[in-house]
Amino acid sequence: MDYRIVLLKGDGIGPEIIDEACKCLDAIGEKYGHQFLYDEQLIGGAAIDELGIPLPQDTIDACLASDAVLMGAVGGPQWDSLDPSIRPEVGLLGIRKALGAYANIRPAKLYAPLADACPLKPERLGDGLDLIVCRELTGDVYFGKKHRDADGTGHDDMNYTIPEIERIAHRAYALAAQRRNHVTCVDKANILETSRVWRETIERIAPEYPDIVTDYLYVDNASMQLVLNPGQFDVILTGNLFGDILSDEASCITGSIGMLPSASLGEGTLGLYEPIHGSAPDIAGRGIANPIATILSAAMMLRYSFGLTSEANAIEWAVDTVLEAGYRTSDIAKPDEATVSCAQMGDLIAADILQ
Ligand code: IPM
Ligand code: MG
Repeated sequence: MDYRIVLLKGDGIGPEIIDEACKCLDAIGEKYGHQFLYDEQLIGGAAIDELGIPLPQDTIDACLASDAVLMGAVGGPQWDSLDPSIRPEVGLLGIRKALGAYANIRPAKLYAPLADACPLKPERLGDGLDLIVCRELTGDVYFGKKHRDADGTGHDDMNYTIPEIERIAHRAYALAAQRRNHVTCVDKANILETSRVWRETIERIAPEYPDIVTDYLYVDNASMQLVLNPGQFDVILTGNLFGDILSDEASCITGSIGMLPSASLGEGTLGLYEPIHGSAPDIAGRGIANPIATILSAAMMLRYSFGLTSEANAIEWAVDTVLEAGYRTSDIAKPDEATVSCAQMGDLIAADILQ
C-alpha cells in the first residue's frame, strides 16, 4: 500500500535526523511491500528564510492532505531576535493547532543497554522506567492571549476549557488500559484555577474507568518523584506547559533527550510525529546527532496513523538490537567509548530491519 508522508525537516539537525528516519521507513517498505511517498515542505526558520513566515499555507494544506507528518525540529539563534509573532516556534505551534493534534504522546523508556547513560543511581531505578507523558498540546498558556503593557509588564493567559480536558483525559485512560492501568494527573491545583478545573474534570471521568487507578500529584512534587522513584509512573496526564517540562525531565532519565519520540494526534488517523528534542544548532551539520528519537517517531507513525503494528515493532526491535550490539552516538556514549555518526546509526538500524 502507498502512504503519503509530509516531511517537515525544519532547522538545525532536523534535516539530518529526518533523512535517517526515511532510511528506516524505506527499509520497512522494502521488507513489507509498502511504498512511502515523501513530500518535503517548509516550516520554521527554513520557511522564514525562503518566504518570510514560519508556517506557509502550502505546508498546512499539504499536511492536511497527507496520511501523516514527520517533523524534525525548528529554531536557532539566527531567528531569536525576530518579532515573537514570526519566530520558528510559531510554525510548530501553528501546525499542531492546524492538524487538531491535541494529544501529545511521549513514551519514555530506559533501554537496558543504556543503563550507564542514566544519571540516576541504579537503586533509584527500581522497576526501571517505562512511562508515557500524555500531554495536552493545543491549549494552555501556549495558546492563551499574550500581551505586554506599556510599562513592560508581560501577560500570558493560561486557560483550559472542560471539553479540552475531557478529550485528553479519555486518551490517557485509553493508553493506560493497554499498559499498567495507572493514570497520574499532574497539575498545580493548590494554586491555579485551570488546574482546579483539570482535577475536577478528571475526578468526574475517573469512575468511568473502574479498572484504572487514578492518582493526583502537584507538578512540583511530580518533578521530584520522577527522579526519586520513576518506576511508579505509568501514564502521566497533564497540560501543555507541565507536559513540556516533565517530558524533558523524563527523557534525561533514559540517558539522552535524543532517545524520545512523540506522536501528536487529533480525532482521526492523521498525526504529527516528531522527536521531543529541539534543533540543536550547536551540533547541526556535524553528523553527530542521535537520530533514534526521530526513527522511533517514525515507528509511532506506523503504529498510530497506519495501523502497521508489526512494522512498528520491527523498527523498535532494530533500535534495541543496535543498542545492544553496543553502537552509540556521542550523546549516549561513555566518555572513552567509540561512537558512530548520525548516518551510521541510521544505516545500522535500517540494515537490522532488513535482516
Ligand atoms: C517540545 C518543544 C516545543 C514546545 C517548543 C520548540 C515550542 O519544547 O516539543 O517539547 O514547547 O512544545
Ligand atoms: Mg519541550
